[in-house]
Amino acid sequence: MNSWSLKDTNFNESYQLKETLYSTANGYFGVRGSFEEGVNKEIPSVRGAYINGFYESEEIVYGEKLHGFPDRSQSILNVIDTQGISVKINNEIFSLFSGKVLFYERELDFKKGMVIRTIQWESPKGNIINIIFNRLASFTRRELFLINISIEAVNFDGAIEIVSTINGDVSNIVSEDDPRIGTANAKALSIVDLQVENNRSFIKSKTKHSKLVVVGGISHLNSQNLKESIEKEEKSINHIFKGNLEKGKIIFFTKYAVYTDTNRHPDEINQNKKILDEALKHDFGHFAISQENYLTKFWEVSDIQITGDEEMQQGLRFNLFHLLQSVGKDRWSNISAKGLSGEGYEGHYFWDTEIYIFPFFLFTNPDLAKNLLNYRFTILDFARKRAKQMGHTIGALYPWRTIAGDECSPFFPAGTAQYHINVDIAYSIIQYYSVTEDVAFMTEKGMEMLVEIARLMYHIGHFRNDGKFCIDAVTGPDEYTCIVNNNYYTNVLTKNLFVQIGKIWSELGGLQNEDLKNLTEKLHFESEELVNFEKAGIAMFLPYDAEKNLHPQDDSFFNKKMWDFENTPKENYPLLLNYHPLTLYRHQVCKQADTILGHFLLENESNMETIKNDYHYYEKITTHDSSLSTCIFSIMANRIGEYDKAYDYFINTARLDIDNLHHNTKDGIHTACMGGSWMSMVFGFAGMRLVDGELNFHPHLPKKWKSLDFKINFKNRILVCHLVSDSIQIRLEKGEPLNVIVEGIVVAVS
Ligand code: BGC
Repeated sequence: MNSWSLKDTNFNESYQLKETLYSTANGYFGVRGSFEEGVNKEIPSVRGAYINGFYESEEIVYGEKLHGFPDRSQSILNVIDTQGISVKINNEIFSLFSGKVLFYERELDFKKGMVIRTIQWESPKGNIINIIFNRLASFTRRELFLINISIEAVNFDGAIEIVSTINGDVSNIVSEDDPRIGTANAKALSIVDLQVENNRSFIKSKTKHSKLVVVGGISHLNSQNLKESIEKEEKSINHIFKGNLEKGKIIFFTKYAVYTDTNRHPDEINQNKKILDEALKHDFGHFAISQENYLTKFWEVSDIQITGDEEMQQGLRFNLFHLLQSVGKDRWSNISAKGLSGEGYEGHYFWDTEIYIFPFFLFTNPDLAKNLLNYRFTILDFARKRAKQMGHTIGALYPWRTIAGDECSPFFPAGTAQYHINVDIAYSIIQYYSVTEDVAFMTEKGMEMLVEIARLMYHIGHFRNDGKFCIDAVTGPDEYTCIVNNNYYTNVLTKNLFVQIGKIWSELGGLQNEDLKNLTEKLHFESEELVNFEKAGIAMFLPYDAEKNLHPQDDSFFNKKMWDFENTPKENYPLLLNYHPLTLYRHQVCKQADTILGHFLLENESNMETIKNDYHYYEKITTHDSSLSTCIFSIMANRIGEYDKAYDYFINTARLDIDNLHHNTKDGIHTACMGGSWMSMVFGFAGMRLVDGELNFHPHLPKKWKSLDFKINFKNRILVCHLVSDSIQIRLEKGEPLNVIVEGIVVAVS
């Protein structure tokens, strides 16, 4: 097995799933891995192209709408289709579903950043061709999507016709019975212009409500001077190329497609033309080389090498590659739950970003991590507005799910009520500062977000009669337990924010720092507020049952009935598709890690014995119906020394999409779980934690593996880590010497 790629040799199976797995994206746009020439009608397919942050907004229709419910949805849109290319040889249309397929292979190459489809096909009349499709979404020219084809006649001379299409007649999928898929208006984009100009075609489409415009432009180069004609139809444009194929001679044909949109290109169509013309000056090879160079740099710092487990190695590289493909690289975009590979969860950004995906970028490519925080700063005003709508007189409340900044969650118990999104963002900002020491970011953006988040959390909490600070009526990460008082996870992360914010403020120089002085004026921020935060942090109530030596997930969790797992048939999982939410809420049953996640993020808030007890308690009642769960159990199983379990949970994490373990990868990849697989390696098997600004390690390698190697970008240093059995070697590749802590012992790394 080559762990640097994903390969498929069976085109007849699971087409829609493979459209997801073989999608190509670059953080700006993504195209599902559909066949250029299409498939038979009866084969389920979602042929899609998506732009990060490009959405339509519709009114949300409620049976009963109460105060503060979000008014409008936002859904990522399937935009103009530029994938279409059909090939005819001697008047016979090339299709894998006619004639004979003598050879078929599709490969997603993680080093080249390309999908390569290699076919030998015999037409019904016996003409054989070798045809190779290469496609890439350029990492170096973010608007550019390229398809390069080579065609060789094996046993005949004859005519060739290639029809390349740009199609504006696209729609989104609609699913009424799976809440994890979108509810978008299927036909949200209307074509406003079709233009043909100097062998280039453009389609401009607009949404009705969000008023966003997208332009797709295409043009071509070929090695054979094929004769080109262009046919404009009502909603699409075809470029028809005709010529001759000579036996043994290869024709190269490249389609250049460019996407532009309102957010990034105010003059969408003219900018599209310019970018297209510029791209046409270079051949496919030029972009293929820069793609590979870009990826060489990425892998140089991001790769994790497992010696002794090719399957897991492949799963991991597949995940890291898809994370890079999915992550937004400008301030308009973030990383959605499904990346740019499908329409599941409507393209929304969740807390998945901060808690599951951010750490990978933070410790390998801090600039990409910073961009994720920049996006949160872009939408800070929306969060302020949302706080007011929710009746808070101060602060900012980040939306549970959104694209452009407005809260889009119509089901508030497992949506808006997840106020922990606020402290998740704060946690990431604090981590970012600690790892990068980026003072400029903190004074320009980070501190402002921390202040507004802290104000909001302070506002929703209260000091109880016994002096404890409590937070009522919120939902923690576990979506099978909703609207509770004192969710351990929410409280412990809020405590962290309250305690840290004052320290960071002083570290940045307080009012002696001009920027912070300006900030206090802008926000009318009083230093007394910092004192209040600290008091609330110290007094934070963290639910604990002394008799059982356990942390209840919230105030009432242990009073509930146990879920009857024994009599729950296998086919009833995931439970959310088979039981009314209230049935779930009445029981002790968890969809995903909640208290255990709190322990992972803030281990020092509890002692190891209680953490162990909690692990065993919650493990029994957690279904892992969310793909965000097994990685956390893997990490924590490592932490408490249950190494076999840690490995089993890791298996369920690392190959979740490749092996379609949740049976819904057809709707898109699971980016949080992908980030979780990186965390399982670094925070799990290497046991890395950031405590008080220092890196701690508790290494333990799975029995099956010989070694594990990865790099960590930390405070302007690059640390090269090598794990064997239960020891770790750390070498400094770049930067000043530092101390790290391994199993409690301070070690100098130089
Ligand atoms: C999980 C959430 C997650 C969302 C998007 C849900 O199933 O319960 O925690 O944010 O999926 O990935």
